[in-house]
Formats: sequence, C-alpha cells, structure tokens
Amino acid sequence: TRVAVVFGGRSPEHGISCVSAGGVISALDPDEYEVVPVGITRAGQWVLTGGEPDQLVIRARQLPEITADSGVDLVLRADPTGRGLMVLDQVEGPRALADVDVVFPVLHGAYGEDGTIQGMLEMAGIPYVGANVFASAAAMDKEFTKKLCAAEGIPIGPYAVLRNGMTLSDADKERLGLPVFVKPSRAGSSVGVSKVSDWSDLDAAVALARETDPKVLVESAIVGREVECGVLEGEAGGSPEASVIAEVRLVADHEFYDFQAKYIDSATSCEYDVPANLPERVTREIQDYAVRSFTALDCAGLARADFFVTPELDVYLNEVNTMPGFTPSSMFPKMWAMSGLEYPKLVDRLVRTALA
Ligand code: DAL
Ligand code: MG
Repeated sequence: TRVAVVFGGRSPEHGISCVSAGGVISALDPDEYEVVPVGITRAGQWVLTGGEPDQLVIRARQLPEITADSGVDLVLRADPTGRGLMVLDQVEGPRALADVDVVFPVLHGAYGEDGTIQGMLEMAGIPYVGANVFASAAAMDKEFTKKLCAAEGIPIGPYAVLRNGMTLSDADKERLGLPVFVKPSRAGSSVGVSKVSDWSDLDAAVALARETDPKVLVESAIVGREVECGVLEGEAGGSPEASVIAEVRLVADHEFYDFQAKYIDSATSCEYDVPANLPERVTREIQDYAVRSFTALDCAGLARADFFVTPELDVYLNEVNTMPGFTPSSMFPKMWAMSGLEYPKLVDRLVRTALA
C-alpha cells in the first residue's frame, strides 16, 4: 500500500506538522506500507522529500522546516485524464498523487486541517485519513465548533466572537469577566493566543490574534484542569471509540499551556497523567462528550477533544482537533497506547479506516 504522508504546510503549525509526520512515518510498518513523503513549504510549494524521520525532530529548540531545497519539486496540475488534481514529479516524470492508495495529511491548521486539502483530495478521488471537508472546516473554526457542540448539549464556556474588526462591547466584558483568553478563531497549538487579566491589554491581544485570523474569540478563562480525550472512528461501522483521558499539568512558569510549553519546553514545563486521575463518573462524562463532539461535527477517522474540568468537577469542551499532534510530547498517541493501541497499530488502523 502506497501512503503519501503530507506535512509541513502553510500554517504557523508548519514545524509541528513536520515533527508529527516524523512520528507517523516511523510508525508505518515498512513491510506493509510504502511511504511517499510529501512536504509543503510555508509558501505552499510541494516537494518530494527523503522523509527521514531523524530529520523531522526538534533539534536545539528549533522545529524542522520544509524548504524548496528539502526535496524534489512537485507541481500540482489538473489531471488531463479527468481524475481531478494530481501531483507531478518534475524530475522523474509524471508521478501522480493519484497513484498512491491513500493520503495521510499530517497537517495542522490552515490549508491542512481546515478542509482545503481535503477538498482537493475529494476532487482527485483519493482516500485520505481523517475528517472530511465539512468536519475539518467546522472543527478548525472555534466559533462553529462551539455552536455545533453546544447544540448537542455539550457544555461550552462563555465566549464572544469578534469579526470584521469588531471590538469587545462593555456588556460582553461584564458577561465574560477577567481573565479571558483571546484566540484566533482558526488556529492551533496556541498560536496567537493570549491570556488577558486587565482590559487595558485586550487590544494588543486582539491585534496579535488577528495576525493569524481576522476573526477572534474572547473566552472566559475557566479555572480548572486541562484534559484531553482521543476519539477514533468505529471499526466495521461501529460507534466512535474514546481513549483514556489525559491530564496536562503545567509545572513550570508558563502563563498557560502555550506553544513553548507544548513543544519546546515540554519535557520540563508539563507533567502528563495518562490516564488522568479523575473520578470514574467524570471520566465517563468526558468520554461521552468527546464521542458526541466527534459525531456533532461529523468527524471521521480521528479527533482529539480538549476539555477543562473545574474544581467542582464541571466539564467544559474547549476545542476539537481533527488532526491532533503526533509529536513525542503529543497526547493523542499516548492516550491510545494507554488504551491498548500502540502507536504503530494506531497509525495502521487510521490508514485502514481511510481505505475501508
Ligand atoms: N494543533 C495541535 C497539533 C494539536 O492539537 O495537537
Ligand atoms: Mg487544545
């Protein structure tokens, strides 16, 4: 089976995607799968890389980067035979992406996790791992994640949406209270996110978030523990399955679980409890919400739902990621390993689900 692992990409999570892809490539059994490692530069250039997993790691606190020099140039073109889009290898002659059996878009954020590449693959008629166009777009956008999941009765914290250059009204300030989190509506890995504890800092936080997305969310900060739950599409038409719950505890001086804490300082800044130490009832409630959010957004393949748990043990959905991180510090593979599905088996199941 030929699997195109596509990584890097045009979003600020470019480097994270590379590290995730390194993990996925290492986990694909070479007896079973031939990997076609396709990198996308930040500018959107597609290159056929060597895909060596040891190049796709954080080194000296630097994330890996796909550049035009990382491999052989690829061009995207409409397929003259009518199969939609294809990728041509300019050096070795036509090598259509359509020739691969399945694509694993290990891409986080815009142009990868938001339905855009999924739309291209739909047009080309190529099976791919993960959520379809709609679910990808809906889960990428925190506004619509909240709206769709709230409609299913999943608890969501108070928030306001600032679109089109809007500013937060005094009524919303009153309603949300301090502190708040200010976030780009469509981003991941805490890129562009600030915690605001004084309204005088709000404008700067909104401006920072708008560097990533003109639409900004302001959310009441929920005081509580940060937990995550993995979800996999059911096998053979079964219901989606939830993993054990993981808790992330910040132990060093990070204001919140930000980009630096997540990836660069993860070894020292965070402790991870897998499974989380939660009462059985709360664990089941979170797993139920995770599966329901997967269904509410019409996800496929995989997702990771992130929650807050208050000291009173109330649970709030934070967000849903349709291509969760697969880095060494990422929770999704760890939660599944603890649930009895080791990393290679997890990756194998994802590819098989896409092909089914
Ligand atoms: N957006 C990052 C990759 C995650 O959710 O794991
Ligand atoms: Mg998250």
